[in-house]
Amino acid sequence: MAGPAIETGEGWSSRTAFVLAAVGSAVGLGNLVRFPAEAGANGGGAFVIFYIFCVCLIGLPILLSETLVGRHGQSSAIESFKKVAEESRASGWWSVAAGIGMVGAFLILTYYSVLAGWIVHFIGIFFGDTISAIGGNTLHSGALTTYSVDQVQAILPALHGDSTQMLMMHGIFMALTVLAVARGVTGGIEKVAVWLMPIFFLLIIGITVYGAFNGAFGAALAFLFDFQPARLLDPSVQLSALGQALFSLSLGSALMITYGAYASKDVNLAKTSVQIAAADTSVAIIAGLAIFPIIFATLAPASLQAILDGKEQVQGGLGLLFVSLPVAFQSMPGGSIIGLLFFIMVFFAALTSSVALLEASVSWAITRFNKPRWLVAIVLGGAAFLIGGWASFSFNSQIDFKPLDFMIFSGQPVFGIIDELTAKILLPISALLVAVFVGWVADRQLIDSENGLSGGIHRTWLFLVRWLCPAVITIILLTGLFPGLIG
Ligand code: TRP
Repeated sequence: MAGPAIETGEGWSSRTAFVLAAVGSAVGLGNLVRFPAEAGANGGGAFVIFYIFCVCLIGLPILLSETLVGRHGQSSAIESFKKVAEESRASGWWSVAAGIGMVGAFLILTYYSVLAGWIVHFIGIFFGDTISAIGGNTLHSGALTTYSVDQVQAILPALHGDSTQMLMMHGIFMALTVLAVARGVTGGIEKVAVWLMPIFFLLIIGITVYGAFNGAFGAALAFLFDFQPARLLDPSVQLSALGQALFSLSLGSALMITYGAYASKDVNLAKTSVQIAAADTSVAIIAGLAIFPIIFATLAPASLQAILDGKEQVQGGLGLLFVSLPVAFQSMPGGSIIGLLFFIMVFFAALTSSVALLEASVSWAITRFNKPRWLVAIVLGGAAFLIGGWASFSFNSQIDFKPLDFMIFSGQPVFGIIDELTAKILLPISALLVAVFVGWVADRQLIDSENGLSGGIHRTWLFLVRWLCPAVITIILLTGLFPGLIG
């Protein structure tokens, strides 16, 4: 497929490049950090089942809606929306759907890069450890043998207290992101995806196989797929699963519109959307199967049983990746090198996503201000660095700064506020507007000429976009804003 000429004159060099870049954006810290943490916190099985349900019935129809608006508009997310609205004789104001998404993507980037900076820090630690294990010929034994368990658990809190180090790591990661985006769609963004995603897949499969032989694989399987019908009805489990589905597929954040615009007319968007959603969901589940066996292997049998019985929760959140996992690597054969490869794998996934997060606003600003790509990338990346750096101070326990102490933000430091604002407000609003626009407002012929669907599948898609997506997303939005509304 020849690169289509969008307003900035850029486009994917092939269909494979498009799919890899889109999968690269979807697969990220959301799959590797957020999914296991949410699955852990919501009791495993029921969450996973509801998550898959949400991906198929809400994520997938919206994914197709977003890519088709972009492909028809052939411009940045906002401009593409305007164009489709204009051709449908609807108000150009519908482009706020993309505008909100773009702001959401930019804000996610600010904290995403801080988190990715922690990954860089752990790569440094495991790299040093691997080198000394090679020197001491102890590669077959566990990682970080000179550390006590307490010391390993203290690595993350120590980093949080060390703002200079945190800013430096955050800066390194943001600089790499800016570099890739500045080099353009084919010269940078596409290259990052085409090189890193295949290596990512090899690494995650390798680590999962390692976990299957060396970890508590059966327990992890039981945990992730144990079907507990009662929990399936728990609204908080449902909401977590739905929010995670939107976040993980990079929906409601202008990106799939932007990447769709770089796709040429001969790409079947319905088929591509299924491939993107399937790859993203598989990675989330494989990540669970890579991480939980390793963590469960270090637990005492009684506490593991309590978790499987649903009586105790997995120590979740960010601690899963940055505390429990390094401790587990301490007692695993080849822990140093497996730990190093693990964090490199997460780093690759994070970079292909952060590049996309930055591109969502860069593609708009290039045409809006008529400035060169490299300049726009530096300015927007620099701004995201400053906001993220400022937000990262909220991890420093010596600084107590909670500027918005109300509603879902209460008790949240800056970092948490940005996360809540994006995942629980901006992304769902944007996705909701996309569904209403594509389902009800846009010209049917225009939409049908882009979606590549026919017959029963077409009718099903239209039903989901018109009815199910708006209804369910409205529920998340309301319960996100007013937690007392349900349960
Ligand atoms: N999907 C990404 C992840 O799982 C996070 C994300 C949300 C994202 N919206 C995005 C990435 C927009 C790129 C562009 O980590």
